[in-house]
Order: sequence, then C-alpha cells, then structure tokens
Amino acid sequence: MFGRLVAFATFSLALAQGALASNSKRGLTWSQGSNNTGDISVAENTQVSWTYDWGQTVPDYLKNSGLTYIPMQWGSSGIEGFQAAVQAQGAKTVLGFNEPDFSSQSNLAPAQAASLWEQYIQPLKADGVALGGPAVTAAPSGIPWLQQFLGNCTSCTFDFIPLHWYGDGVGNFYNYIWEFHGEFPSYPIWVTEFASTSTNVTEVNSFCNASIAYMDSLDWIQGYSWFAFFRDDGTSYYNLLDASGKPNALGTTYLTSTIVDPPS
Ligand SMILES: *[C@@H]1O[C@H](CO)[C@@H](O)[C@H](O)[C@H]1NC(C)=O
Ligand SMILES: *[C@@H]1O[C@H](CO)[C@@H](O)[C@H](O)[C@H]1NC(C)=O
Ligand SMILES: *[C@@H]1O[C@H](CO)[C@@H](O)[C@H](O)[C@H]1NC(C)=O
Ligand SMILES: *[C@@H]1O[C@H](CO)[C@@H](O)[C@H](O)[C@H]1NC(C)=O
Repeated sequence: MFGRLVAFATFSLALAQGALASNSKRGLTWSQGSNNTGDISVAENTQVSWTYDWGQTVPDYLKNSGLTYIPMQWGSSGIEGFQAAVQAQGAKTVLGFNEPDFSSQSNLAPAQAASLWEQYIQPLKADGVALGGPAVTAAPSGIPWLQQFLGNCTSCTFDFIPLHWYGDGVGNFYNYIWEFHGEFPSYPIWVTEFASTSTNVTEVNSFCNASIAYMDSLDWIQGYSWFAFFRDDGTSYYNLLDASGKPNALGTTYLTSTIVDPPS
C-alpha cells in the first residue's frame, strides 16, 4: 500500500520536475570518513534521498549533496551536545546508539542507554524531531538488548527502530526482518546497515536488487541504507563504488533502481 502511494508520488513529481524523483526510503551509508569527499556527486539526483555517516553534524560535502542528512548519537561520548547540534542544523530526524549490544561498538548496558536516552535524546521530541531508536546487531545479543532497553526506557517514544543485518541469501534476510517486526510490531523499521556477505559479486548485486524492491513493498519498513558507500579496497564485495569512485554494477543498482509495483 505504502509502496503504491510512493510509486504514484514519484511518478507525479517526475512529471512536475522533468526528472525522476528519489525514493524516500532509500539512504546512503557514507563510510569513507573524510576521504574522497567528491564521490558524493555520483549520488546526486539518483534514487537515494538521505544519508548518514554515524556523526552528529553534517560535513560540508554531504550538506551540499542535496541528500537529507540524519545526525546520529553513536554512543555516550559527546551526548551532552547532541540536542544543540541537532537544533543548529535543523535536522528533522535523528538516529541513536550504534550497535550498543557489541563491546567493539557503542557498548552500552540497556539500563545505562535508557537513562542517557531519557536525559539527552527524548527532549528532541518536543522540538518536533523524529527519533530513531538504538540500532542493535543481528547477533543473538541484539533483540534481547533492545527488549531490555525498551523495558527501562519507560518515558521514551520512538518514531521508528533501526536494525542491522549482514549475511548471505535474501531468504535469511527476510526471515530476520520479519522476526524483528514480530518482536516489535508497533514500530516502523529502518534497516540502517545491511549487506550480502557473499564473495560472488553477481550474487551480491542480485541480493541488493531483490531486497530493496522487497523493502519498497513493505509498509512497515520506512527506511533502509545499504552498507556501504565506499571505494573498492580489494577486501569487500558490497562496496558501491569502484576504485576510482564511480558506481560499480552494485552501485548502479542501488542508485538507479526505481520502485516496482509491489505484489498486492
Ligand atoms: C582514509 O584515508 C586514510 C589515509 O589513507 C586511511 O588511514 C583511513 O583508513 C581512510 N578512512 C576510511 C574510512 O577509509
Ligand atoms: C533494564 O536493563 C537491565 C540491563 O541493563 C536489565 O537487567 C533489566 O532487566 C531491564 N529492565 C527491564 C524492565 O527490562
Ligand atoms: C556467481 O553466482 C552466479 C549466480 O548464482 C553464478 O552463475 C556464477 O557461476 C557464480 N560465479 C562464481 C565465480 O562462482
Ligand atoms: C531486479 O529486481 C526486479 C524487481 O524485483 C526484477 O524484476 C529484476 O529481474 C531484477 N534484476 C536483476 C538483474 O536481478
């Protein structure tokens, strides 16, 4: 249903502007840090509409891209300044806590994260900002962490909950997102990191192509961003750019594939 409305809205905008409008769900995970900043130009006027880089404040190269930048409060560090940073850039949506269930990532206990959330992130709601909850991993620690966090964060509100997933095969991915939706049915979901870890580039490309079309068709998935927008470094198969910063076949799929009519 949502997919059909988006497809119609996209078509109308395309007529009005003489160009193909972007997909409101599709985001870009900028993972080059401050390297190769000019590469963002290949994402302009594509199907991608928003971006994040795990940071609080939009860097100039992303600010000037025409994509909506979504600030993130990655962990506890710097959280005192988050509300002011979000207000200063006029952001309408934020993300909070990256993989808090992993000790190598933001590494927060659910009760600690909930108390930080209530003090520093929940107040943004009164500013009219949409709040995306913590993004747990798809490891066995992820869903239980989020359940305990929600159990502690009793005065919190969430406009959507992110999730992360890495693995092989669209069936496994679809099973996980449906399991997650079943655990947290009252929240829209954003898949803010996902990728096929296959080492066969053809399979990675068809995984991406199929999964984005599938998510476009699900009304409870309201955002997604492939991992990730970075140049080929010879060690991964899910990078969207070749070694010179141009979209590879996968990048072309992600940047250009338009919403297909979902199965009714
Ligand atoms: C950016 O480049 C520096 C220097 O080559 C490198 O050490 C660093 O890992 C790069 N960062 C990313 C995110 O690729
Ligand atoms: C609150 O979080 C702690 C872990 O930080 C957990 O042990 C406890 O069960 C949680 N409370 C609720 C009500 O979920
Ligand atoms: C990659 O996957 C495609 C599609 O499944 C298959 O046809 C092809 O043989 C595979 N290539 C390699 C090198 O395994
Ligand atoms: C991409 O996905 C669309 C929609 O599901 C499908 O019609 C098309 O065959 C796919 N193309 C490739 C190369 O996988």
